[in-house]
Amino acid sequence: MDRGSKSAVLVTGGAGYIGAHTAKALHEQGFLPVVYDNLSSGFREAVRWGPFVHGDIRDRAALSEAIEAHGIKAVIHFAGLIEVGRSTVKPDLFWEINVAGATSLLQVMREHGVGRLVFSSSAAVYGQGDRSAHQSIAEDAGKAPASPYGDTKLAAEWMIQAQCRAYGLSAVALRYFNAAGADPSGLIGEAHEPESHLIPLAIAAALGDGKELTVFGQDFQTPDGTCLRDYIHVTDLARAHVAAIEVDLAAGVFEAVNVGTGEGRSVMQVVEAVGRAAGRAVPHCLGERRAGDPPSLVADPSRALQLLGWAPKHSSLEEIVADALRWERNPCYGAGLRGSAGRRKSRMAV
Ligand code: UFG
Repeated sequence: MDRGSKSAVLVTGGAGYIGAHTAKALHEQGFLPVVYDNLSSGFREAVRWGPFVHGDIRDRAALSEAIEAHGIKAVIHFAGLIEVGRSTVKPDLFWEINVAGATSLLQVMREHGVGRLVFSSSAAVYGQGDRSAHQSIAEDAGKAPASPYGDTKLAAEWMIQAQCRAYGLSAVALRYFNAAGADPSGLIGEAHEPESHLIPLAIAAALGDGKELTVFGQDFQTPDGTCLRDYIHVTDLARAHVAAIEVDLAAGVFEAVNVGTGEGRSVMQVVEAVGRAAGRAVPHCLGERRAGDPPSLVADPSRALQLLGWAPKHSSLEEIVADALRWERNPCYGAGLRGSAGRRKSRMAV
């Protein structure tokens, strides 16, 4: 799809963490990002680079109206539930929003002749399976999701692939590894509620929020016994979405592409990097393993380079942590607000 002509791209879930960074990247590349979000976990203030439409992904009439009104040419679909733990107690809701929601979005796209989709998928589709802890993961690796969340991402991919074949849509599913960091401006960054992700929690502990970080498990088959993850800077991730919108794909083609660096970092390496960047050690204790955590999730990112011409540029652990720390220290949105009643209104992105 061409940029430059201000082609309008619908960004469902564009008020969220990765969605807001992607809207900014689209804007910088000459597209018009039209954010469609129900603000159940996103932030209105994070919508800064194009129009905003308040709506739910299950609301076909509202989606149809947004696509019509803004002359949408392509869709990037982030809207969905992401908390792995919650998916184990509310699996029906995850299927309703992540799978049925995506199905109705595709139906509306078809009605309007919108032929390109980029879908927000996840490394959660892989799980651990029988892979060794040192093996990186290519797209054709075995799929053994360890949670209903991962199940819904894989099911949505299958549904999209079938619709590509049947109706001539072209789609790219981006399987994110661990999105991290923040825009270097410090204006948008990560703020989930409740926060469960390692880097924001480690930073909050280092900045003295009073809680120490619990390191979940030290007896994994990894070099230092803690879990290995592939941390990818959110601005690199955002660029991958723009590349997936622009890539030339024939009608009917579905591609699944890993977005990661190929480098595994352990929980303790992250804790140490945060300590170095913050100038004070992260208060932490050693705890039990967290249910459903695979020992190692590290991408083989070759397909992203081959298909999208994409490679990470800002994903050293040092740069990720420095940008995340700048966001947390921002006097308007920083750590002082974390956990306070006003935080949801005051923070700018999920
Ligand atoms: N961790 C801790 N202590 C904490 C929080 C996390 O030790 O307080 C550890 C986890 O056990 C894990 C690593 O830090 O080993 C990273 O955990 P995150 O919660 O930051 O991220 P996950 O790897 O669990 O989750 C990410 C995405 C999910 C996606 C999942 C795929 O955020 O959306 O990868 O497995 F589903």
